[in-house]
Amino acid sequence: MSDRRNGDVAVVTGAASGIGAATARLLADRGWRVVLADVQGEQVEELAWRIGPAARALRVDVAREEDVSAAVDLAVEAFGRLDLMFANAGVFGAYGPVHTADMAAVDTTWAINLRGVFLSMKHAARVMRPRGSGVIVATTSPAAVVGGVGNHAYSAAKAGILGLMRSVAGELRPHGIRVNAVMPGPTATPMNADLATGDATAIERTVELLKSRTDGKRPAFAEDIAEAVAFLASPAAEMITAHTLVVDGGFTAIPGDSRWTKGENAAGGAIFEAGRRAT
Ligand SMILES: NC(=O)c1ccc[n+]([C@@H]2O[C@H](COP(=O)([O-])OP(=O)(O)OC[C@H]3O[C@@H](n4cnc5c(N)ncnc54)[C@H](O)[C@@H]3O)[C@@H](O)[C@H]2O)c1
Repeated sequence: MSDRRNGDVAVVTGAASGIGAATARLLADRGWRVVLADVQGEQVEELAWRIGPAARALRVDVAREEDVSAAVDLAVEAFGRLDLMFANAGVFGAYGPVHTADMAAVDTTWAINLRGVFLSMKHAARVMRPRGSGVIVATTSPAAVVGGVGNHAYSAAKAGILGLMRSVAGELRPHGIRVNAVMPGPTATPMNADLATGDATAIERTVELLKSRTDGKRPAFAEDIAEAVAFLASPAAEMITAHTLVVDGGFTAIPGDSRWTKGENAAGGAIFEAGRRAT
């Protein structure tokens, strides 16, 4: 797709790595100007340097309101406006059984994964409303809708994003602002590499390991998710708001280990035809 946006302006949170970095690169390739916001300040500086004059970098902790506000202000000061807020920064966060949960870790997980998205929406809306246009996309996860694929705090935050997204979409619709979520399936990023192998750089090994969760097929790459975000931000998606775009190769709809989806139960006679159980 060659959707060149003639200098439209995006803030991407979590832009130092994985999905955020891929999205920042894709948008810049397509003519966007981008503010790269991430708690890994050096990494976003380096990526901005590689992208060139169309990029700015800022060290941002999305849980801190002044940081998120500053990222939005930088977009307006450097590039004149904000057309897309990609609220993407996230961490896997707290883990372990619920009865021994470390509540400080739970609170931190929520502060980054949910409060950070709330703040991103708040400050994007602050500058988008007066212009009467803009798009906000937040990154949720299958953990929002399926148990057992993320820890409890992560799952709750990602489910919270869905409620927040719909609620804010309703408020901002009359102001010409669309608000959507993207739901990546298992994606071969440093986050997953770290989880799967203990080494955030082991992407190739992670691709192999993730195949067990994706029916032997390749998992998503960060670029697959970037394409979905670019679509949601494009005029082609003008009628799409309050929507969750699932980019998971069927992961949430078709459990890879399901005998039903593989037709293996057919021989057992568990088939209903015209309301009658086949024999
Ligand atoms: N990888 C997957 O399989 C997958 C699946 C579903 C959803 N997601 C979500 O996608 C998003 C991006 O994840 P990824 O896989 O690219 O992981 P990643 O670890 O490669 O990238 C996440 C980025 O967020 C940044 N970050 C973390 N805490 C921050 C904070 N407080 N302030 C600012 N930046 C912060 C990190 O520094 C990192 O650059 C996350 O929200 C994640 O939950 C990932």
